[in-house]
Amino acid sequence: MTPSDADYQRAVDLLIAGELVAIPTETVYGLGADAANPAAVVKIFAAKGRPADHPLIVHLAGHDAVDHWAEQVPAVAWELMETFWPGPLTLILKKQAWVPDAVTGGQDTVGLRVPGHPVALELLRRFARVKGEHAGIAAPSANRFGRISPTTAAHVAEELGDVVPLILDGGPCKVGIESTIIDCSRGEPVVLRPGHISPAHLEAVLGRQPQIETSQGAPRVSGSLEAHYAPSTPLRIVAGERLLDFINAQRHRGGQCAVISANQPPQAGMPHAWRLMPADPVGYAHDLYAALRDMDHAGVDLIVVEALPQGQEWAAVADRLRRAAAGAGQG
Ligand code: TXA
Ligand code: MG
Repeated sequence: MTPSDADYQRAVDLLIAGELVAIPTETVYGLGADAANPAAVVKIFAAKGRPADHPLIVHLAGHDAVDHWAEQVPAVAWELMETFWPGPLTLILKKQAWVPDAVTGGQDTVGLRVPGHPVALELLRRFARVKGEHAGIAAPSANRFGRISPTTAAHVAEELGDVVPLILDGGPCKVGIESTIIDCSRGEPVVLRPGHISPAHLEAVLGRQPQIETSQGAPRVSGSLEAHYAPSTPLRIVAGERLLDFINAQRHRGGQCAVISANQPPQAGMPHAWRLMPADPVGYAHDLYAALRDMDHAGVDLIVVEALPQGQEWAAVADRLRRAAAGAGQG
């Protein structure tokens, strides 16, 4: 799944012209615009139906561009970049004065990330060759606001095909959930959004357990809104030992459910759609959004997700599922 030279050229031309391009990253697909062009960035918000005070992540081709966008970058941020970039880590840093408010939601910080996907990196490098070496692409996940993030080019087409002039196809996303976000702008690094890079990974670099922000509801991080990553079908999380009873009760009421679970169906011949998930958190995260999307299209009344195991390694997946349950059934 490699875009042709002509695809890259078209993508660069669109970005330079202030238009949108959907791009693959290793986490999820992004809806990209030239981050230094406020008029282009505004189109992202319009396409997604996203409130304008929600800041965007600026994607860069490499560490060299960081000082152009951020100031007072602390040593710990450089250590994190050296360890995890290119990769699924976003750092929140004090912004340079020139960085457009459209990107930062009017805050004095900016989110930066060097993505670990060859197509994203190639596009960023080609864009920088034309636009200037520090060029960045602002990109939120390429879904309508509050909906499930896309992990394939087909998902993007389904969400935004009518409003994005070009979707670069880089195949299915390896990680499958959004980047870990760490705020390094306020002294001690604080995890704002859990992701593939886990607290254990971070502890190995920081030498101590990272702080994890728990306050909910503030729009600083749009992922921190309760209702997010949500299917249109209502979704319930049900403990494994109650699952069979729950499904049977639904059935007696005439309701059809689809089940997402890391375990085999408890009895043969169950009439429901059953999506078997990998039993490890990395595999589960990889499949999560595609599973939610498939089950949302299954024509059922309810999506039932078997509760996850406890444990830090499941934190990122648990976070996405909790938000999916909070926002489901509203569309
Ligand atoms: O993996 C990802 O991070 C994907 C890919 C495309 O890179 N992007 C993504 O973007 O998930 P989005 O907009 O869906 O989520 C970005 C998060 C939002 O919750 C936003 O509020 C937060 O990053 N963010 C960006 N800049 C910020 C800032 N200056 N301060 C606090 N949060 C920020
Ligand atoms: Mg998003």
